[in-house]
Amino acid sequence: MGSTVTVTIEGKNYELPVITGSEGEKAIDITTLRAKTGYITYDPGFVNTGSCTSEITFMNGEEGILRYRGIPIETLAEKSSFVETAYLLMNGVLPTARELTNTRILLNDYSLVHEDMRTFYQNFPRRAHPMGILSSMVNALRGFYPELDHSDEALNSTFLRLISKIRTLSAMSYKISRGHKVIYPRPDYSYCANFLNMMFDNPVVPYELDQDLVEALNVFWILHADHEQNCSTTSVRVVGSGKVNIYASISAGIAALWGPLHGGANQAVIYMLSDILEKGMTVEETIARAKDKSDSFRLMGFGHRVYKAYDPRATIMKKICHKVLAKLEITDPLLDIARSLEEVALTDPYFVDHNLYPNIDFYSGIVLRAMGIPTNMFTVMFAIGRLPGWIAQWKEGSTDKVQKVARPRQIYTGETERPYTPITER
Ligand code: CMC
Repeated sequence: MGSTVTVTIEGKNYELPVITGSEGEKAIDITTLRAKTGYITYDPGFVNTGSCTSEITFMNGEEGILRYRGIPIETLAEKSSFVETAYLLMNGVLPTARELTNTRILLNDYSLVHEDMRTFYQNFPRRAHPMGILSSMVNALRGFYPELDHSDEALNSTFLRLISKIRTLSAMSYKISRGHKVIYPRPDYSYCANFLNMMFDNPVVPYELDQDLVEALNVFWILHADHEQNCSTTSVRVVGSGKVNIYASISAGIAALWGPLHGGANQAVIYMLSDILEKGMTVEETIARAKDKSDSFRLMGFGHRVYKAYDPRATIMKKICHKVLAKLEITDPLLDIARSLEEVALTDPYFVDHNLYPNIDFYSGIVLRAMGIPTNMFTVMFAIGRLPGWIAQWKEGSTDKVQKVARPRQIYTGETERPYTPITER
């Protein structure tokens, strides 16, 4: 018999089982709590709540550890490709050479989008945010691929179709927003090279691929590929728990990622650094604002719900950032501000006491900027990277026999029953 904890409620003891994860993490299983006691738990933001068991990603926020399927993020960033990492996340194992080749062939086969989808783009207002457009387009894919069966083969095709098409749809949205000719994917280019080419090639000035940028994008997407039960992934699982199709679930994940406290932070960091530059604020003034509780300003790119040490992704992204800027011989004043902010914040008692370290978004925006990606596309770049993780989590959730439709409880604090007052008496 496994261990239990005893909860005492109104003088009565209840035994609740303890679940232990493969890395020793412990949880109190409260699935029978309400039935046994009439009580529920209260946990805004699910800070202490495990919503599932999962074999996909392990994070230890105190020690700054991140592993996909057991493999450290540092190793994957050094040795893997985004496509291979996507396979690992979705299938639980690294692909053989043959499986990887087949995956690449299918990604190529699926890379075009239905020509009718191009007309959708014309109807969004010119200033519509690319994240809103992407979320709509991914949801719309369902209309073009309605015949889903749930065999392993059909599901695998759907997953790869999504991974391939999200890249084409994203580049297409950029080209159309600029009024430029849409560039189609090329069979001779890798996943990352193809994306850069679709973004920046044009009929009069051919795009010259820079292998260092291709490699930087590869690592950027590997670092973003999964992050266990964050806001957007939870959205994908919650929406998926209603047994809706995967396109709608992923579309919900994209919408959730858009927010500045989540994936939108990479865009918010650049706006913040540009604002500091334009207004001529000092680093000390900026840090003081971030600490002032009467000011809603936060230091974007700092802090994390789980990491209470340095975000391991930020360490890698910082190196990539320096490499890319050195290669392109770019001196970016925003990077200088970022460096000074980091230096001061890492020793400031408020930031130290609150365990506020730079997160991945603090450096990723500068890397994307150097690549020529427009700021409003930054969160789209995050979404492309996170897609394999969302798919893996959707797949795990949809085959988890213990899962039910997501439906949290609440503590009602509104009016108790009262009479209806006719309008003439109000
Ligand atoms: N600047 C200043 N103070 C901060 C910051 C910040 N960036 N982040 C947290 N705090 C303070 C906050 O005011 C609170 O202070 P106190 O306890 O004295 O009231 C304390 O730290 C805890 O903050 P919280 O909001 O309760 O923590 P959380 O776990 O709910 O929030 C967070 C995590 C990432 C939303 C938050 O740190 C934040 O807003 N950061 C800036 C946005 C950002 O960079 N987001 C990207 C996250 S990484 C990408 C991803 O995986 O989504």
